[in-house]
Amino acid sequence: MMKLVAAAVTGSLVAGAAFAQATEVKIGYALAEHSHYGAGSKAWIEATKAATGDRFNFVEFPSSALGGEREVLEGLQLGTVEATIVSSGVLSNFVPEIGVFDVPFLFRDFDHARAVLDGPIGTEMLTRFADHGLVAVAWGEQGFRHITNNRGPIAAPADLAGLKLRTMENPVHIKAFQTLGAAPTPMAWPEVVSALEQGTIDGQENPLSVIVSSKLNEVQKHLTLSGHVYAPNVLFVSSIFWDGLSDEDKEAFRKGAVEGGLAMRAFVDNAEATGAQAMKDAGMDVAELTAEQKEAIKAALAPAYEDYAKTFGADLLQQIADVK
Ligand code: PAF
Repeated sequence: MMKLVAAAVTGSLVAGAAFAQATEVKIGYALAEHSHYGAGSKAWIEATKAATGDRFNFVEFPSSALGGEREVLEGLQLGTVEATIVSSGVLSNFVPEIGVFDVPFLFRDFDHARAVLDGPIGTEMLTRFADHGLVAVAWGEQGFRHITNNRGPIAAPADLAGLKLRTMENPVHIKAFQTLGAAPTPMAWPEVVSALEQGTIDGQENPLSVIVSSKLNEVQKHLTLSGHVYAPNVLFVSSIFWDGLSDEDKEAFRKGAVEGGLAMRAFVDNAEATGAQAMKDAGMDVAELTAEQKEAIKAALAPAYEDYAKTFGADLLQQIADVK
């Protein structure tokens, strides 16, 4: 009996020691576990664990549990958070040049966007975060952004006049909606659903992956499939945490992040195929912009495009447009 008790105690000490040695990796993200963020995080964790065994103890913090995206990135810079997946919303505050990917109607379709991000332009852009205490390990994805609101359908720039539209804290998006005559209201995501509920804003814009997984049909009547801008996101690791990893573990985190990005793209493909119908079935009024209506919006954006060309360089915009 004594021997059995001793064995059990020793066993739990060994298990406890193994657990105590596992390094905690906190991963924060804005949306629920059942969203594309959850899918990306879980695929990242699973692939990294397959290569590193039980040496890392991953703990997910979904639904903005660690704060808004800017706060989480600052947590990575301080080393209080090890990893995150964030939208392009606040990234220009760290690396302004990344805002080029936020230019409206820059990408023709998913194939174009993915080819640019996976190619030399996108790969080089990720390296620019190194000077900011952040290791950008892979691109993820949200989809093309669409407008939802409670005022009415949007078919032309005039329908946006004065619309209190929540945007991300993203200068490129803000400029676009100002140019179109809307009243863009930048706001961190954790405040958005209650602001829509209370009517302090009329609408917001996000891809179907977000609209569906955040059940925006419960607080919004109209969905306009505008596809006005592509929305990538990025999988990050804190430089402080990264610098303490062996080369093999760095490789495992990096390859795992690529798997996470691919899982997000697969989730987005499905949301694109099914999301609009799901929102119709849930009672939303859903309309898709025609090619002519999109052209009218692009034409109204002409002054903003002049500004983007000055900020990011007409050459870079052309190089992106030329990617097949
Ligand atoms: O609109 C945003 O802020 C982002 O798209 C969201 C919903 C936080 C996902 O990253």
